Amino acid sequence: MFNFKILTAGATSLALLASAAMSETVIRIQSVLGNSTDEVRMVEAFAKDVLELTGTKFGCGKAQCGACTVLIDSNPIRSCVTPLSAAAGKNITTIEGLADLPESRLQDAWAEHNVPQCGYCQSGQLMSATALIRKYPNPTDDEIDRGMSGNICRCGTYPRIKKAIKSIASISSGLNSDSV
Ligand code: FES
Ligand code: FES
Repeated sequence: MFNFKILTAGATSLALLASAAMSETVIRIQSVLGNSTDEVRMVEAFAKDVLELTGTKFGCGKAQCGACTVLIDSNPIRSCVTPLSAAAGKNITTIEGLADLPESRLQDAWAEHNVPQCGYCQSGQLMSATALIRKYPNPTDDEIDRGMSGNICRCGTYPRIKKAIKSIASISSGLNSDSV
């Protein structure tokens, strides 16, 4: 995990932050002390433009599609409308961090069930599924439907997403204790 404070929005400080954070998978923003540019910068733009973590996708930009979903602590949030200031003092996990978590089994299940089609929505789907599995290690169909309802897939991969989640549900009951 890499902790930092955002001090300014100047190009130099942002470049330093980016290079320092490149190898990290969980971002922790201690506080936003800079100017208004940083305070209103959205988490999605910060991850992509500053940290060069490009796995989080931008779709609607209006909290409607779920493509930009990341975790703040264990909560799935729409990073396109969440300012950095709202994430201060919390852990932000993007899709790049999932491989280091016990829930990376979801990625294996996604591959096994050939879930992605075009793939654009899938990083958001996986982050919502991670939050779901943390909350409900053995989710019912209803819990899956509710937990994943904010993530739209234009390719209609919903049945395969559900199958993949259910396939790991029976072996996931120990995931919470190891999670960040
Ligand atoms: S891009 Fe954030 S919800 Fe659509
Ligand atoms: S896989 Fe294409 S939008 Fe979901």
